[in-house]
Amino acid sequence: MTGPLVLGIETSCDETSAAVLDGENRILGHVILSQDVHRVFGGVVPELAARAHLQKIDAVVDAALDEAGCTLRDIDVFGVTAGPGLIGALLVGVCWTKAAAFALGRPVVGVHHMEGHLFAPSLEDPGAEPPFVGLLVSGGHTLLLYARAWGEYTLLGQTRDDAAGEAFDKVAKLLQLPYPGGPEIQRAALSGDPARHRLPRPMLRSDQRPGQDDYFDFSFSGLKTAVVDLVGRLGREGVLEMERDHVAAAFQDAAVDVLVSKTLRAVEETGCSRVLLGGGVSANLRLREEMARRLGPDGVVLRASPRLSLDNGAMIARAARFRFDLGEIAPLDLTAAASMPFPGMTHTSDSTVALA
Ligand code: KG4
Ligand code: ZN
Repeated sequence: MTGPLVLGIETSCDETSAAVLDGENRILGHVILSQDVHRVFGGVVPELAARAHLQKIDAVVDAALDEAGCTLRDIDVFGVTAGPGLIGALLVGVCWTKAAAFALGRPVVGVHHMEGHLFAPSLEDPGAEPPFVGLLVSGGHTLLLYARAWGEYTLLGQTRDDAAGEAFDKVAKLLQLPYPGGPEIQRAALSGDPARHRLPRPMLRSDQRPGQDDYFDFSFSGLKTAVVDLVGRLGREGVLEMERDHVAAAFQDAAVDVLVSKTLRAVEETGCSRVLLGGGVSANLRLREEMARRLGPDGVVLRASPRLSLDNGAMIARAARFRFDLGEIAPLDLTAAASMPFPGMTHTSDSTVALA
């Protein structure tokens, strides 16, 4: 076997996950445990998430090692999500990993959760490499970027308020669908007519031009408010139950339209028609289909299977290997951070993207 064995640990939100990658980035063992407890509350309760990680992390790592046919002593490099995310939840993963690595005298690499999402498609498709335009859409982030190479990113746009996944979750709650809302909206939308209710496309106007701040940026809170108004009206008319799937379809269409339209602007601006979709919302079938359709036959959509699109330890192990190869070993005082800068990300104020 070539290259070090990497163990990746992910505990930034409500999935406790561990994965072992071999030297060729093949997944030898991978366990993802989703915490059910949050369903009762209709959203992630940070304190409960941290406790659940603490209770399950040993068993999750053991199961991943078993599947890989190795023990903790065989691990050469430990990778862990250090941020961004829920601080208590992150700390469980970071402290566990530091303790194990220190005991065994192995290096630890702190991984940025969203860079992990960027690497996820490459675990299944070796061709999912830069250059690409990346759309990262999760429960906490919505980022549009250009990746010139691994570790060399230009931020084009981001959300000014709610993240895309957050909008799916909030709209699902309004429609009395369970948490997490994304898959529920997708399911309901299958039997809905997206044209029955017209919802706005926030921050998407035809008069926007490259160089203007809002050309690539997103906003989802106005869309959510429009759904609040619509749901209120349908409720007063006593037809909400009947209209639920139509509202879900209209919302999904509006969110996907904005995400795809802004991504296509980035494709035009960069001249790069390879688009990588990452983060939990990239599991959305309508988003995948629309992106492929509007990108056309000359474009390529890079994305992971739904299992690897959602939070998982394998993408963290993969990103950890990349950072380890650059010599980025964390000091023992590595700590978790609720927010942290995206490594290798430069910001463009004038939206000009230099192509290498
Ligand atoms: O990346 P992720 O697993 O966790 C974070 O880093 O936040 O993303 C979770 C988000 C949730 O908001 C969830 O509702 C959304 O991804 N999601 C989806 C779908 N599956 C998960 N959104 C739309 N369609 C889906 N099929
Ligand atoms: Zn995530």
